Amino acid sequence: MNSQQPGMERRDIQDDCSLRDSSELPSCSIVIFGASGDLTARKLIPALTNLFNHGCLPVRFNIVGCGRSAMSHEEFRRHLAEFNSSQRTVNSGDAWASFAANIFYQELTYDNPDSYRRLAELLNQLDRERGTAPNRMYYLSVPPALYPVIATQLGPAGLAQQGAGHWSRIVVEKPFGHDLASAEALDKTLHAGFSEKQIFRIDHYLAKETVQNILMLRFANAIFEPLWNRNYIDYVGIISAEKLGVEHRAGFYEQAGVLRDMFQNHMMQLLALTAMEPPSRFRDIQVHDEKTKIFRALKPLTPGRLSDNLVLGQYGPGTIDGHEVVGYRQEPGVAPDSLTPTFAAMKLGIDNWRWRGVPFYLVSGKRMPAKETRIIIQFKEVPHSMFNHETAANLLANRLVLGIYPEEKITLNFQAKSPGSKECLHQAAMNFKYERRQDQGGGTFDAYEMVLLDCIIGDHMLFWRQDGVELSWAFLTPIMAECESYPETAAKMLQTYPAGTPGPTAGHRWMQLLTG
Ligand code: BG6
Repeated sequence: MNSQQPGMERRDIQDDCSLRDSSELPSCSIVIFGASGDLTARKLIPALTNLFNHGCLPVRFNIVGCGRSAMSHEEFRRHLAEFNSSQRTVNSGDAWASFAANIFYQELTYDNPDSYRRLAELLNQLDRERGTAPNRMYYLSVPPALYPVIATQLGPAGLAQQGAGHWSRIVVEKPFGHDLASAEALDKTLHAGFSEKQIFRIDHYLAKETVQNILMLRFANAIFEPLWNRNYIDYVGIISAEKLGVEHRAGFYEQAGVLRDMFQNHMMQLLALTAMEPPSRFRDIQVHDEKTKIFRALKPLTPGRLSDNLVLGQYGPGTIDGHEVVGYRQEPGVAPDSLTPTFAAMKLGIDNWRWRGVPFYLVSGKRMPAKETRIIIQFKEVPHSMFNHETAANLLANRLVLGIYPEEKITLNFQAKSPGSKECLHQAAMNFKYERRQDQGGGTFDAYEMVLLDCIIGDHMLFWRQDGVELSWAFLTPIMAECESYPETAAKMLQTYPAGTPGPTAGHRWMQLLTG
């Protein structure tokens, strides 16, 4: 069955800028596993509330929270209301009450088949009593270890079934496994009950407006694409730096480190969107196909090429915004001799006609001086300058910067004449600021709103496809194996940097390319 509803396809760009009309959306039940957890209260319910307030949820829908705690429907609604009142979604009591009337709760033991039978009964009962269609979205807002447990229970309880115009979909968030083998194993479990079309793998970077804009900029304009290749581009930089440290996530982060936490997913998506060929149509399948070709063309960094192409770091004690902060090894839950990297700078290449020989610098780290995410397209210098030698020496090559955070903007740097002396040049910038568009009535979805809505619609564009997940792991797994197999190698590769600085000194030359 085609999971995309007729009339529900991603439409032309102009059309997609407006919020969706609830009467277009298929009636469904959204089942959230891990309902009493932090993510549900902080992100999912506020996102659903906001969609509801904008009339962007189906006319008839149910939200069913599932968790281990015993709670009545009313207690669950009260628990959510407390959190919701402190969120950005401003609700009058009436608005919340009419939204909350669609929320229900089911106590559930994750590995107990009876729990799932009871869940199926509740969902069927809600359909009968409230006139909702038997469309189901299962959102796994639980630790990844529970993904296989839940996924294997849904099928036998008849909850993964689709047919007669009805769908069932499962939503998982990264991490999708720990390495290639575990990602394949997880996928096998998910596929036991669900087909690829029913699985939605979230990467919240894909739902950022400015990240989506990369494709618009490249392929809705004629002026960039002819230059977007090895003939004109010197190098590409992708940086995602954070001020925050590991916070309360040491349990997860100690096992992951920056390569699994940021590179396997977000950084790879930014790379693919920047480097991919133009898809024939703006549809999920065509876009995924082109991204997959990029992952397949990544030049392996092992064996033997790692030390020249990878810098790993771990933050030590330092200063952030004038406040002293502890080092990674002093953070609660972190081993005092931890070798987990919190910073990585990687130089990689793409072995295809367009990019042969162009270095891509990917940098991500925690406890850096500022939070910033951006993509830098550094063009080559002019082949010959007709200006006198002194001026020519100061000629800076053109640079296009796609700002994702904090400033959502696109900047093109170029040379312009300064008023006055005949040969006086200066660097000028053309800026497009994204917030201006929002003032003009553009969409206002945040990342979670966007993915929830796309899952209801059945559009996979903003989600990972499994072949991409596996190719990304296939590139990174040998790198991690080489870094992690022997503690001596790991210790040798890992360099400490004081919190609040731009990573270890070995990476500074690359950082300068991206910031200078
Ligand atoms: C998450 C990582 O996926 O992305 C976090 O697990 C990281 O460690 C976060 O802080 C960064 O996301 P953003 O949207 O703040 O750049």
